[in-house]
Amino acid sequence: MNTRLAQRHVLVTGAGGGIGLAIAQACAQAGARVSVVDRAAQPSDGVKGLQLLHPGAVQYLAADVTKAEDIEVFVAAAIEQSGPVHTLVNNAAVFEMAPLLQADADSFDRLFAVNVKGMFFVMQAVLRHMVDAATPGASVINLASQAGRRGEALVAHYCATKAAVISYTQSAALAMAPHGIRVNAISPGVVDTPMWAQVDAQFARYEGLALGEKKRQVGLAVPLGRMGTPQDIAGAAVFLASDEARYITAQTLNVDGGNVMS
Ligand SMILES: NC(=O)c1ccc[n+]([C@@H]2O[C@H](COP(=O)([O-])OP(=O)(O)OC[C@H]3O[C@@H](n4cnc5c(N)ncnc54)[C@H](O)[C@@H]3O)[C@@H](O)[C@H]2O)c1
Repeated sequence: MNTRLAQRHVLVTGAGGGIGLAIAQACAQAGARVSVVDRAAQPSDGVKGLQLLHPGAVQYLAADVTKAEDIEVFVAAAIEQSGPVHTLVNNAAVFEMAPLLQADADSFDRLFAVNVKGMFFVMQAVLRHMVDAATPGASVINLASQAGRRGEALVAHYCATKAAVISYTQSAALAMAPHGIRVNAISPGVVDTPMWAQVDAQFARYEGLALGEKKRQVGLAVPLGRMGTPQDIAGAAVFLASDEARYITAQTLNVDGGNVMS
């Protein structure tokens, strides 16, 4: 246990598993009260374990970030239970891929609904509270992706959603700077999570690979020689949420083992 986020309240969306859960764990470990949001009606086993480890400090809120009515309810419930939000981690997202000529409107709508619309309106709802409360040290961390840095032939819609995350991060950072609220993004590379199990299965389908082969290939291609773990990303989130990052805003931080240099 450390105290970098002591007395802080961190709200993490999509934190039932994967990177979001690891960020929730790291923030609780750093002394924060944590509100965990995900779609399932009941908390996952990982969230239950976190609640046992940090009694009274971790609350679970079932909500769909694509629904405006859910956003109002979970943001209000988080604040009522744990006080003003110091850091929002906008992590919920979905992944789909298809060859460009087959990338259809339904897939576009599903991806943009969560990754862009959900991300933006959760951020807006929490920022309104941060501005009203003049919360000291307030910040937002959006989960972008290396996929937002350049296009990919099979992944056009998802790449576009993550480019939008980077752009909204910059606009929100400029809008919020006069209020002393920082807005940054983290851009992971390839991280071994439930999402990557889906990515691997879809690449297997479109590239005729054996299951697990794409994961092996992308891990080997990382300059540091392996896929990331959710915990590799969580440390960057704790840093960006902390006062150590007090002069950092409008940035998208690559946490990817060296895949992207920008
Ligand atoms: N895994 C990677 O390699 C990788 C790489 C780059 C960026 N990212 C980004 O990091 C973030 C986390 O990725 P992950 O790999 O842990 O994904 P994941 O699929 O393992 O977890 C995402 C979580 O979001 C939740 N979620 C999805 N739609 C939701 C909705 N409408 N409302 C509420 N919750 C919802 C899911 O239930 C799930 O628990 C995402 O933004 C993803 O795009 C991941």
